[in-house]
Amino acid sequence: MSDIISETVVFVKNQLKNAEAGHDWFHIERVWKTARKLAEKEKSNMQVVELAALLHDIADPKFHNGDETLASRIAGDFLSKNGVDGNVKAEVLLIIENMSFKNRKEAPKNPSIEFQVVQDADRLDAIGAIGIARAFTFGGFKNNILHNPEIPPKPAMSKEEYKKSDGTTVNHFYEKLLLLKDMMNTETARKTAEHRHLYMENFLKEFCREWDADDISA
Ligand code: ADP
Ligand code: NI
Repeated sequence: MSDIISETVVFVKNQLKNAEAGHDWFHIERVWKTARKLAEKEKSNMQVVELAALLHDIADPKFHNGDETLASRIAGDFLSKNGVDGNVKAEVLLIIENMSFKNRKEAPKNPSIEFQVVQDADRLDAIGAIGIARAFTFGGFKNNILHNPEIPPKPAMSKEEYKKSDGTTVNHFYEKLLLLKDMMNTETARKTAEHRHLYMENFLKEFCREWDADDISA
């Protein structure tokens, strides 16, 4: 591992010491690993991919009073202090400022391959078995309820509505997680997402069967 990558690992681990379990160092480690695998199949700058994956959640606005520029300032200072090339730094900051689901309407029109790879890796970690675990962890953290059949999902929420995240966790599947499969940028991520998506659909089917006690024979 190059010096700058191992420095970044130490820095990010420390930054996320007290993070919520769905957005902790292990989320970053999974995204980093997935991004490297996706990047190996594309012609991309691995240093940009690794730095952006490692730094993408160091100060999520939802855990920092909605401050949307903090992460970029902290990451920028870190990269400058460690002598990272100016172009690399600019590319990394562009990725971490724009890759979030809630910013998808403002995202760059022609994102770089490095942007696409890191965004796909973050999105893959939001779906499948891990996606289910993370969603309920976040819901618990926010004290949201699991499900309420009387509250319909709102799939086309504005950024402001989405940020409130006070809905039910089951609705979060319809409002975000089930939409991600069709938003993947790279072929490898698209293929991987298919299985993870099916797994979530099956989970929701089972969840509703049990909710209605339909699995209990009369
Ligand atoms: P992004 O990181 O792309 O901006 P979010 O921060 O909104 O996306 O979501 C990251 C992860 O946090 C989601 O994939 C999910 O696991 C969890 N999460 C966010 N909002 C909710 C919610 N309202 N209910 C349950 N989980 C949520
Ligand atoms: Ni993330």
